[in-house]
Amino acid sequence: RLSLLLPASMSSSSTRTPPESVVADADALARKVAAIRAAGAAKLQVIADFDGTLTRYWYDGSRGQTSHGLLKQGNLEFDAKRDALFEHYHPIEINPDIPLPEKAILMEEWWGKTHALLIEGGLTQEAIKKSVADAAIAFRDGVVELFELLEARDIPVLVFSAGLADIIEEVFRQKLHRSFKNIKIVSNRMVFNEEGRLVEFKGKTIHVLNKNEHSLDMAAPVHNSLGDLNGCTDDYSLVKKRTNVLLLGDHIGDLGMSDGLNYENRIAAGFLNTNIEKSLKDYSEAFDIVYLVSLHMRWPKEKKEALQ
Ligand code: TMP
Repeated sequence: RLSLLLPASMSSSSTRTPPESVVADADALARKVAAIRAAGAAKLQVIADFDGTLTRYWYDGSRGQTSHGLLKQGNLEFDAKRDALFEHYHPIEINPDIPLPEKAILMEEWWGKTHALLIEGGLTQEAIKKSVADAAIAFRDGVVELFELLEARDIPVLVFSAGLADIIEEVFRQKLHRSFKNIKIVSNRMVFNEEGRLVEFKGKTIHVLNKNEHSLDMAAPVHNSLGDLNGCTDDYSLVKKRTNVLLLGDHIGDLGMSDGLNYENRIAAGFLNTNIEKSLKDYSEAFDIVYLVSLHMRWPKEKKEALQ
């Protein structure tokens, strides 16, 4: 059945245009949509990954930056060391041939080294603001409209990221120019000293493959520093009563984000940004719907405009 839905490039006889999304079991998805609709907005919550899910994987013809990737410490030596770690570990992160337990150990190692370099390099709050202002990062088309719709219906959104909470919050401030009272961010959170320098990270590290171990964090009281998003200081354990979930992610590990919930219905939407041919089978078995990055997303702005 799946083979009928694969992009044309993966099927020898087909000449049709590659689809932008793949649904392995359309009936199962339709049943979930109907059940969630029938239960109504009061039963629904959204759990979303940040980098490459809410944000664009391609930005003006190049790779969009992640909350980690956009960071310039104001110290070239440390930036270069973090870049070298990315060059080494990112191919491992996206390689579907490495078994997950083995990959999780390597991801833990990557996050540990990066966090240590950020502390050692004396990252400042000022450097975070400037890095976000200069960054090639943008929300995907439709994300702001989705946030607005969810806010209007009082549907909570949990942004669950293995990136950096302080940077994600700064991206929300600078790129959206408005706040959403229904959004809460669970991610690696920094502790700064009185001079505004990073001294440590709070709690246990969240990396791409251990989100399931942190899924209960969503019920914890909000300890974010963000004035504007503090509309979400209400009791988040209430979200546990919302037993229908729309989960958005770009990693199979993102499915673990809903592990702490005893959900009734979950629609998992996956964004397959890279290694499409190798990963599509796994993604379409894991997610109810897989969005493929269309080729035009990779084109630079001028090329897209020329075709319009
Ligand atoms: P997320 O999808 O949960 O937001 O994951 C964070 C992303 O951050 C993940 O795809 C890998 C990336 N990353 C970097 O770009 N640089 C780093 O130093 C680290 C540790 C992660």
